[in-house]
Amino acid sequence: MLSLTNKRILLGITGGIAAYKCAELTRLFSKAGAEVRVAMTKAATEFITPLTMQALSGNRVSLDLLDTDAEAAMGHIELARWADLVIIAPATADFIARVSHGQADDILTTLVLATAAPIAIAPAMNQAMWSDSGTQENLSALSDRGYHIFGPASGEQACGDVGPGRMLEPQQLLQHCGNLFDVGRFASLRLLITGGPTREAIDPVRFISNHSSGKMAFALAQEAAAAGAQVTLVSGPVNLATPDSVSRIDVESAEDMLDAVMGNISGTNVFIGVAAVADYRPKQLAHEKIKKDDEGLTLSLIKNPDIISEVAKLSKGPFTVGFAAETNSIIENGKQKLLSKKLDLLFANNATQSFNSDSISLTAITSENEFEIATANKNVVAQEILKLISERINSKSAE
Ligand code: PMT
Repeated sequence: MLSLTNKRILLGITGGIAAYKCAELTRLFSKAGAEVRVAMTKAATEFITPLTMQALSGNRVSLDLLDTDAEAAMGHIELARWADLVIIAPATADFIARVSHGQADDILTTLVLATAAPIAIAPAMNQAMWSDSGTQENLSALSDRGYHIFGPASGEQACGDVGPGRMLEPQQLLQHCGNLFDVGRFASLRLLITGGPTREAIDPVRFISNHSSGKMAFALAQEAAAAGAQVTLVSGPVNLATPDSVSRIDVESAEDMLDAVMGNISGTNVFIGVAAVADYRPKQLAHEKIKKDDEGLTLSLIKNPDIISEVAKLSKGPFTVGFAAETNSIIENGKQKLLSKKLDLLFANNATQSFNSDSISLTAITSENEFEIATANKNVVAQEILKLISERINSKSAE
């Protein structure tokens, strides 16, 4: 199912013979309900005219960073923010090299650096240039940064060579772009997500907690709601705005979080435990501020309830997804948690990098296999996570 309706697509065209295919690609995007804006390098204008792209997209084409008229209509930073998806098609070896090194020396490279939207690249070049180790290293750097690489196809090339380097056909690119927004059956699903830290009170002014910012859980809630899911987010104390269309329940301690989860679990199709729940709480809560004692202070701790295990235990319970932030033996510890908590899927991550950062990389672990989600912005990773969950639910319900 394609989900490009009302999506804002920024199509970047670089100078390759396949640029002529962008006319058809723009027509297909528009037909699928997307709004298209086009930016072209100077070389691209040698292969297809800006006037053609303006007529097909219905919008003025961006050609130059220093064009005052274009900047007055929609400045390049505004355009970078406007996009739900940036796709560069065709992407030449030169463009890929410049972007992989973080250059911002024309309108396209600047837009790509400035956008927070997912970025897709459709390479097109001579087969020897494609196979060159420089190009491959640049592409693998982009892939590590979370860029989606579509193609190339193999076959006869404009220069007469035969091999990999042909840009994918517009219909294939349309399908790939649609897949980025396709989160399967989320439109009819209820999701319950926990996020942020918990606070375990020691006395009226002190508590035990951790560095979770809530960013990963809020990104998941935002992307799931955008994909049509009905989302309830149970959040520990964080400093983040509630995403649109998300129902939020604020809690403090692990016990509060357990109550909120169990009170809302009925009818939930997918439970995602992103929260960094404190495993222990003080055995006794002091009702007055504890006074300083020269002898020191010994706190006695007791175990908190394991919220996700309680959810996984439910008969006819939801598809249950956990997270594990580990400092060592990340995959082994993640696997062990998947099994001991009886989860359907778990995302292990490196605790020294994932807490309170804007980006994350994950290893998805199931009882059968495991695979990597490369480092990217937490919203981009959230889309990958939802896609994986959707595939797992679909294959589970097909069994
Ligand atoms: O919030 P951010 O700054 O964006 O950071 C994201 C994150 C690092 C918090 C997130 O990616 C993450 O890894 N969350 C899980 C943290 C963790 O290490 O959890 P855990 O290993 O203690 O627990 C494993 C799973 O059991 C988790 O799904 C957790 O929510 C759940 N759990 C744990 C203890 C408990 N008492 N109840 C639980 O439900």
